[in-house]
Amino acid sequence: MKDCLHDIKSRLPKLLEQIILSEQIKALEDLRIEYLGKNGTITLLLKSMADMTDEERRNFGKDVNELKVQITEAIDARKDLLVQEELNNRLKSEWVDLSLPAKTYRRGVLHPVSRAIAEISEIFASMGFSIAEGPEIEDDFHNFDALNIPQHHPARQMHDTFYMPNSLLLRTHTSNVQIRHMTDEQPPFRIIVPGRVYRYDYDATHTPMFHQIEGLYIDRNITMANLKWTITEFLKAFFERDHIPVRFRPSYFPFTEPSAEVDIACKRTKNDLIIGEEDSWLEVMGCGMTHPNVLKNVSIDGKNLQGFAFGMGVERLAMLKYGISDLRDFYSSDFRWLSHYGTKPLKIPSMTGGLS
Ligand code: PHE
Repeated sequence: MKDCLHDIKSRLPKLLEQIILSEQIKALEDLRIEYLGKNGTITLLLKSMADMTDEERRNFGKDVNELKVQITEAIDARKDLLVQEELNNRLKSEWVDLSLPAKTYRRGVLHPVSRAIAEISEIFASMGFSIAEGPEIEDDFHNFDALNIPQHHPARQMHDTFYMPNSLLLRTHTSNVQIRHMTDEQPPFRIIVPGRVYRYDYDATHTPMFHQIEGLYIDRNITMANLKWTITEFLKAFFERDHIPVRFRPSYFPFTEPSAEVDIACKRTKNDLIIGEEDSWLEVMGCGMTHPNVLKNVSIDGKNLQGFAFGMGVERLAMLKYGISDLRDFYSSDFRWLSHYGTKPLKIPSMTGGLS
């Protein structure tokens, strides 16, 4: 053992040099195992002291310990350096220049529903309407009763309502906001209400969620003539045509009296649908003069104030204007479809700068 100790002592300078020149953590680890591991040279030397006399052990032990400390320190120091170097290299290779301009997501577009709502809002804003909103989770009263649709009214069946616990439901139309707005605010009222509505229905022309825009105009001396003018002007502006034949066809809604459905003239060719050319009719919205019962339900004196309401489907209008053929595509998240029918997000429609 003494020879062995002597041997290592004489090799120490070379060993330390080998450690300092090591370029890899793995090589250092191998050296550590060779000298300081469970069966390492230094460890075995320390173990061999068990059979020595006290006298022998004193000098031998001191020497071995010194060797152990020197080798351990050299390995640790070199290892620290290599770890630091590795980190520096990584920082250098993964460096990001934060001062570079951000990459813009050029392909991002506005969904055609958002685009249609923006265009429609702009037209009504130019006529002095403001935008109101209301809850999509609604109660019976605001979605039905207050709108003159009592519990067993047949119109309730036509709405295919999604019911929820605690007498709540998903609103079937944006007309609930008529009631909320008239209860919360002071007349006159001139609002449009864009928003999501829900009906239990799914096929090529129905999705369980779709969008409507409600309109409400209550003031003194508002007549059917005002209704007709407002809607006709809106349709001309939306379809960007100077002239569109419009037909008000008598209809029925519990919350308006008289009620009408609005049709616009259109012509179907083999591949196209041309809006505004007289050939056949296309239904685009429902409307009517606000029913006296509705005014009574929101405590408005129907003798002094009256007005009209209308409601239109946003997807339907978007399909007609942008030439979209299947309603279900709106919600299939197909990137190609979206980039084709979407618009640039910063292109804000305006009556003066151009609608679409
Ligand atoms: N709420 C009706 C519907 O969803 C549309 C409508 C609104 C009709 C306002 C008349 C007046 O079908």
